[in-house]
Amino acid sequence: MKIGVYPGTFDPITHGHTDIIRRSLRLFDKVIVAVAAPSPSKHPLFDLTERVEMVRLVTKDLARVEVAAFDGLLVQYVKQCGAQAVIRGLRAISDFEYEFQMALLNRKLDDTIETVFLMPSEEYSYLTSSIIKEVARLEGPVTDFLHPEVATRLCQRLRRQSP
Ligand code: COA
Repeated sequence: MKIGVYPGTFDPITHGHTDIIRRSLRLFDKVIVAVAAPSPSKHPLFDLTERVEMVRLVTKDLARVEVAAFDGLLVQYVKQCGAQAVIRGLRAISDFEYEFQMALLNRKLDDTIETVFLMPSEEYSYLTSSIIKEVARLEGPVTDFLHPEVATRLCQRLRRQSP
């Protein structure tokens, strides 16, 4: 059974992420979406439980997808899942350097695990969770980029945060 792990912060999950999940289902029998616990470099708007909940909601109709939270080293988690590969989206050249570094470091840590890069549909190639949060903060429309329930939660969260 071919298992791929798609890791990320998913703060929150966007249509760009879902596009990668759908594409990866063409290559893998099972895809585990691994939602990362907060790290010193990222301070997510949504806590881990909420981010997992939103990924579950968005992927509920995708039978071969599992969603889980993870902490610690990615390669250890991948091994523990019995997976063979890490799945990453490559949106633009600007992603390449960071992804290249991460893929090589992960390979150094465990050379039995491969990294597979997939390109999202071009309509999502400019998306990041931060840019969408910025649009929502400025009360712009985000429904083209997010599942309706995720969009509602994002707007509610930002409203609660504003003074
Ligand atoms: N569509 C839309 N947005 C996308 C996207 C896509 N297809 N692919 C990535 N993004 C966005 C993300 O939303 C995120 O946006 P943000 O910075 O505004 O939040 C940004 O691109 C990059 O984030 P992402 O791809 O989710 O990765 P990440 O940097 O949040 O997560 C981990 C990185 C969690 C996979 C990595 O830090 C990790 O492996 N951590 C575990 C510890 C470890 O093993 N470290 C060593 C690894 S070398």
